[in-house]
Amino acid sequence: MSTDEDPHTITVSVDGQVEEAVVAPRTLLVHWLRDALDKRGPKIGCDTGNCGACTVVWDGLLVKSCTLLAVQADGQQVATIEGLAKDGELHPMQQAFHENHALQCGYCTPGMVMAAISLLDEIPNPSEREVRIGLEGNLCRCTGYHNIVRAVQHAAGSTTGGQS
Ligand code: FES
Ligand code: FES
Repeated sequence: MSTDEDPHTITVSVDGQVEEAVVAPRTLLVHWLRDALDKRGPKIGCDTGNCGACTVVWDGLLVKSCTLLAVQADGQQVATIEGLAKDGELHPMQQAFHENHALQCGYCTPGMVMAAISLLDEIPNPSEREVRIGLEGNLCRCTGYHNIVRAVQHAAGSTTGGQS
């Protein structure tokens, strides 16, 4: 007889690669990504859904992966910061962060970049205020946000957003 405590087999597309795994029902998505798949891009900053360091895209939705269970991703597609660069080329948002010095320690950056891309998907040319509101779920303790806002607006001028 199976119980809610039994491991589950899940199949998830992560950054375009299909992963099949057996996970404990209480394993958080962020822990599975980092510990089982070695996707160290998503960070654990708070484990309580507040900081946004663990932000990934889950079936087209921006989510904080510390608030989801790995079993909830079964049959879904997950995109992390690690799938953004293609053929050695940074995604335009990553490049914009680089060029605008939009990071210091970098701990918030993977989540911030994912959130920024999602923001441009919704608002292709956001005002400063719209960027600040759009990224309010992602905390940065280093930069004061000014250069992050500048990077997002810079990227808006060179890309229509999206993750390809
Ligand atoms: Fe998920 Fe902070 S670690 S929101
Ligand atoms: Fe350090 Fe954002 S660059 S937390």
